[in-house]
Amino acid sequence: MHIPVLLAPLLAHLIPPERDRAALRALDGTVGAGGHSAALLDAGVGSLLGLDLDPAALALAAETLAPFGDRVRLVHASYADMAQAARSHGWDAVDLILLDLGVSSMQLDTPERGFAFRHDAPLDMRFDPSSPSMTAADLVNTLTAEALADILSRYGEERESRRIARAIIAARPINTTRALAAAVESAIPRRFWGDIHPATRTFQALRIAVNDELSAVERGIEAGLDLLASGGRMGVISFHSLEDRIVKDAFKLAATACICPPHVPVCVCGHQASVRLVTRKPITADADETAANPRSRSAKLRVVAKL
Ligand SMILES: C[S@@+](CC[C@H](N)C(=O)[O-])C[C@H]1O[C@@H](n2cnc3c(N)ncnc32)[C@H](O)[C@@H]1O
Repeated sequence: MHIPVLLAPLLAHLIPPERDRAALRALDGTVGAGGHSAALLDAGVGSLLGLDLDPAALALAAETLAPFGDRVRLVHASYADMAQAARSHGWDAVDLILLDLGVSSMQLDTPERGFAFRHDAPLDMRFDPSSPSMTAADLVNTLTAEALADILSRYGEERESRRIARAIIAARPINTTRALAAAVESAIPRRFWGDIHPATRTFQALRIAVNDELSAVERGIEAGLDLLASGGRMGVISFHSLEDRIVKDAFKLAATACICPPHVPVCVCGHQASVRLVTRKPITADADETAANPRSRSAKLRVVAKL
């Protein structure tokens, strides 16, 4: 079961106030099991276009959102391509955009997707299993030690990236989640295992690399800010600092007028603010939510409104 995170603050900040809710068009770029989308529609938002890269997620969303009938349309697409998806749906602008980044509980709980080392399964990790892109097994079995260490350090913020990369190369071929976890375990003496399993950061890093997640976030935010109608709002929920930094910087830049260097006496950049920050600081889960849903512990919500 996937419990939608930060649901109450999301509804409070994402739905533009003093607007006829029935006329609002929403785009959920990560529809998943449809939890957030259902809540937006229940709150009176008129129509919703839901995107996901994962056909299994879309099938679940179709069930969850069936009661809303033709107020909902679901499309198999990346949120990075939301402008094309909206246009094909006949929308040239939208009033609400939501991105709830990362992996869902269903994906983690489905062994054959290869996202989690608590199950032994083929090492896949693609959000879209029908895509021709490389799986996590392809990466660990083909990259050089340097390239692997770079992925682990950049996307997993793993301090032992070189040591782990060497252990992975020594254990090749690695085709399953357990084999990868065992290779990482062999690289880190047990007394240095911290609060989280030593393979956690390696799994996160490979998932980000397989799905090219950080560049999708950058492209998705750029597309979303462009697609928003005046007064429309975009909210992004991120789950680790790499994602949150991208969201924070992109929103801050879009909310800034002049971006000339400080020593330039008169503005020459011509940059204009296109949004205002609705949330100056990210919204995080309260104690009740983190107790009920541990996944919410690292969630951060940021929202902007188009000028
Ligand atoms: C955290 S879940 C979303 C859960 C959803 N908000 C709900 O309430 O059920 C993230 C979803 O985003 C999807 N996803 C990841 N990257 C994507 C991308 N670039 N484009 C579209 N969907 C993506 C994943 O397949 C997953 O279903």
